Amino acid sequence: MKNQLFRKKSVEQIIADSEAKGSGMMKILGVRDLVSLGIAAIVGAGIFSTIGLAAYNGGPAVSMLFVFVAFACVFTALSYAQFASTVPVSGSAYTYAYVAFGELFAWIIGWALVLEYAVSNMVVAISWSQYFVSMLEGFGIHIPKWLTMAPGYALDAHAKMLEVGAEQLTGIDRIALEAYQTAPRIGDIPIVFDLPAGLITVLVTWLVYIGIKESQRASNIMVLIKVGIIVAVILGGAFFVKPENWTPFAPNGLSGVLSGVAAVFFAFIGFDSISTTAEECKNPQRDLPRAMIYCLVICAILYVLITLVLTGMVNYTELNVKDPLAYVFDYVGFNHMAGVISVTSVIAITSALLVFQLAQPRIWMTMSRDGLLWKRFATIHPKYKTPSFATIVTGIVVTIPALFFKMDFFVDLTSVGTFFAFILVCAGVLYMDKSGLSAKSKFKVPYVNGKYLVGIGFIVGLVLMYFYGQDSLAEWKTLGAGNVILHKSLVLVFWLTWLALSIFAYKHNFSLLPVIGILINLYLMSELGASNWIIFILWLAAGLVIYFLYGYKNSKLRIQE
Ligand code: ALA
Repeated sequence: MKNQLFRKKSVEQIIADSEAKGSGMMKILGVRDLVSLGIAAIVGAGIFSTIGLAAYNGGPAVSMLFVFVAFACVFTALSYAQFASTVPVSGSAYTYAYVAFGELFAWIIGWALVLEYAVSNMVVAISWSQYFVSMLEGFGIHIPKWLTMAPGYALDAHAKMLEVGAEQLTGIDRIALEAYQTAPRIGDIPIVFDLPAGLITVLVTWLVYIGIKESQRASNIMVLIKVGIIVAVILGGAFFVKPENWTPFAPNGLSGVLSGVAAVFFAFIGFDSISTTAEECKNPQRDLPRAMIYCLVICAILYVLITLVLTGMVNYTELNVKDPLAYVFDYVGFNHMAGVISVTSVIAITSALLVFQLAQPRIWMTMSRDGLLWKRFATIHPKYKTPSFATIVTGIVVTIPALFFKMDFFVDLTSVGTFFAFILVCAGVLYMDKSGLSAKSKFKVPYVNGKYLVGIGFIVGLVLMYFYGQDSLAEWKTLGAGNVILHKSLVLVFWLTWLALSIFAYKHNFSLLPVIGILINLYLMSELGASNWIIFILWLAAGLVIYFLYGYKNSKLRIQE
């Protein structure tokens, strides 16, 4: 059984399979196309929406969190690039895990990628709806509020009102209260749901179903629009910045800033998706690493600037809104600009939705071809040549939650799943080095010997923790054992992993950069709160049940052997 679970695909086998399938895709993509594709995937709901709540909780200092998270992504991007240059086929982290860790991990990663693609698209759909509603309002069209949001917002706002009084409610809460009060009711239950989010998902799924793949390639215009809006907000907003809004820089301290980890990380997710184009690159070994780093650097610069502008234009307490980029211009009385931003944002966010709605069925298709999912997931539509069944399932899976659930929940869930996938990809590079597979890599993560450095870092980290982390330690003491286990066990996991990596690095001369990648990702992941981890673990458990009921028995690799 152990052999079966950890049975690996060989690089030769994967490349032979892909050639046998006659994918024969054209090798046309260069660095510029890849950067464009990357930005198409990266820039979406994160910067258009979730940044609002992160800035509201963390204040202007959230801009620094963007820098820190960008570093985590750069280390991960290098690892992705090494894999993409070794296994230049389009299965992304799922295929890499099949090579490095075997079938069980491949399945787990494929299952976690559902969080990165399908669940993140629920967020993007909700964000789209928010800008769409604000755009319509700009044109004087008012949709009833109960048709524009998840019921959770309305119920929360009602509860808040009972607690603090209606006058105290601001931003989203005020609108949500209106939704609660005006909604039709079944008995006592108000009927509230996010109709635009559901409709746009159905529409985009339909486009993807009938084969709009070319639009992914031709996403350059969309990317120009997106980057154009962001640059316009930065340049236009700069005139309205009042530096006094930047003080205090971190009004709620480090914990306030770190509460935005999921939202900030969410804004970077997607750079890894260009690794799936490895088969279509002119020179994947050279161009993929460069393109990923360029995307990350460009986005990090834009994100930092935009955060500074938003928090400079209005006091951070104003930013708990659904459409911060448009809102700030409304706030300073520049309504035309707010209108233009709403309209263009709707177009820009649609493209983000499209990219992930295309990617999810293709990952399921790859898994189905390997026998880990039902055959129907690999069915190709005779006329449209798209993975039709998998596309419809993706549509249903994204549409229903987008109608009824709050965005923040999905942001957290996406981030947990994606951190997990990133950690495994970084760890996969260590495995490649150890097993000699790296000899086949045309691009390698620059090697810095971590033999002593990982351990030295661990000791320095502990010392710093001792001197500067007394507040956290005091908090631990007051929590009591039960709560420490629930809320702080993730921090323990982080330190124990660092300790283990120090020992292994000493033994095996681990490459330093992937180790840093693992540690930063794990640290950020540990900041996400126990409830997210619990849901994530339940998610993985559900995945394992499916694997043992189906994939384990039907795996092609098992049948072949
Ligand atoms: N980074 C993508 C977005 O912000 C997922 O929408």
